[in-house]
Amino acid sequence: MAVNTTAHKTNYNKTGVWILGARGDIASTLIIGVEALKRGQVSSSGMTTEIPPTSDLDMIGMDDLVIGGLDIVESNLVESARTVGQRSGTFSSDLVKLITPELNIIDQDIICEPEASWEAGISQDNSLNINSFINKLRKNLQKFSEKHQLKHTVVVNLTSSEQLPGDSVSHDTLEGIEQLIMDNRQDLLSPSICYTYAAFQEGCSYINFTPNPGIDLKGLQQLAEQKNLPFYGNDGKTGETLVKTALAPMFLYRNLKILSWEGVNMLGNGDGQTLNDPNCKVAKLRNKANVLDSILGYSPHAGIDINYVPSLGDWKTAWDLIHFQGFLDVKMSMQFTWQGCDSILAAPLVLDMIRLSEFAARHGESGPMKHLAAFFKNPLDCEEMALHPQFQRLLDYVQAHQKNPRPMLADSCCQ
Ligand SMILES: NC(=O)c1ccc[n+]([C@@H]2O[C@H](COP(=O)([O-])OP(=O)(O)OC[C@H]3O[C@@H](n4cnc5c(N)ncnc54)[C@H](O)[C@@H]3O)[C@@H](O)[C@H]2O)c1
Repeated sequence: MAVNTTAHKTNYNKTGVWILGARGDIASTLIIGVEALKRGQVSSSGMTTEIPPTSDLDMIGMDDLVIGGLDIVESNLVESARTVGQRSGTFSSDLVKLITPELNIIDQDIICEPEASWEAGISQDNSLNINSFINKLRKNLQKFSEKHQLKHTVVVNLTSSEQLPGDSVSHDTLEGIEQLIMDNRQDLLSPSICYTYAAFQEGCSYINFTPNPGIDLKGLQQLAEQKNLPFYGNDGKTGETLVKTALAPMFLYRNLKILSWEGVNMLGNGDGQTLNDPNCKVAKLRNKANVLDSILGYSPHAGIDINYVPSLGDWKTAWDLIHFQGFLDVKMSMQFTWQGCDSILAAPLVLDMIRLSEFAARHGESGPMKHLAAFFKNPLDCEEMALHPQFQRLLDYVQAHQKNPRPMLADSCCQ
C-alpha cells in the first residue's frame, strides 16, 4: 500500500516533529522511513494510520512533516543512518545515498546539547542551571517553529532510558515542579521531566516513547490541561509486551490458570547497552511487569529479565515461558520466541502517534488520550491493559470522528 505523501484532504500548514534523541536508532530509522515514504520507495507496512478505518481520518501526510530535534552527541544523519542500516541490515546504503540531500537539510535543525545528560538522583553538576536549561529548550522550539512557520509541533522523546529521580510530593503539582526547577533540584528532575515541561509551556504535543518519567507526573498533567493539550502514556509497546497483552486474555477466557510467565529479553543495540545498567532498567522492568496482574486479576510468578547481547544489534530476541494449569489441575506450558528488529517495530508506531497527536491537537482535544492506550506499555489513566479492548478505544475514537463511518475492523472481519 502506498503511503499518502501529501495532506489527505486539506492543505494544512506544516507540522514540526522535534525529536529528543535525534541521533539514536529509532530516530534515524524514522527519518529514513519518512523520506523513503515520500519518494514512494517503500510501503507503509507497520503503520496503523495507513489502514482503515484509521486511514479515513483527515490526517497529515509525510510531506507535511518538518523534522528537527536534539541529542547529547554530535554526529550527522547520513553517518547515523549508515551505521544503523549496516548494523541491522534493515535498509541499504543505496537508499541512504538517494536521500542524502534531504538528510543534510534535516541535519541543520538538529542541535547537540551535551548539557542534557545529567543523571537524576546520582550526580550534581554544579555548572548546570535547570531553569536556564529549560529556557534554552523553549527558545529552540520557538526558533524551529518560526523558521518553518509551523502550525503545530509534536515533541517526541526517543532518548535513552534514564535513572529514575527520587520520589517527591512536589511532582504532584505544577507549583511543586516549578519550585524544584527554581531550586535547581537535579536529584528530583531528570532531563525528560524538563523536556515535558518545556514542550507543554510552548504549546506542543508531547509523546513519550521511552520509559522515562515526565507525563506520568501529576504536576505536568496539570500543565498540559492548563494549556489545553492532549497527552499520552509512556514507553512504546512494540515487542514482548505487545504479544503478552494479546495472549494473556486467552488464558483468562478459558480458565487456564497461569502459574508462571517468565520472559528473557536479549538485545544488543544502544537501548540494550543502556538497559544493561541496573539503575536504568528500573522503569522499563516496572512497565513490563505491570500488565499481567491487571489483565488476569491475580499475580502469577513473573520473572522478567533484560540482557545486553552485543552481537544481536537491533534484533531483539524475547523468549517467554508460560506455565499454566488446566482441567484436573494438569500443568502444561507454552513457549514463544519473538525476534523483531526494535527500530523497525518502533518507527512506524512513532509516526502513527505523531499523526494522531496532531489530529487531536487540531481538534482541540485535551487531557489523557485513552484511544492510544494500545500503543503504550504504560497507558495513562487507563486501567485496561489487554490489547484488544485498548485497540477498540482507537476504533471508537475513529468512528466518533468519521463523517461517514464504515464498518469497524472487527465487524468487517466477521462478515
Ligand atoms: N525500540 C523499541 O521497540 C522501543 C520500545 C519502547 C521504548 N523504546 C525506548 O525508545 C528509546 C530510544 O530507543 P533507541 O533504540 O533509539 O535508543 P538509542 O540508544 O539508539 O538512542 C537514544 C539516543 O538518545 C540520545 N540521548 C541520551 N540521553 C539524552 C538526553 N538526555 N537528551 C537528548 N538525547 C539523549 C543518545 O545519544 C542516543 O542518540 C529508549 O528509551 C527505549 O527504551 C524503544
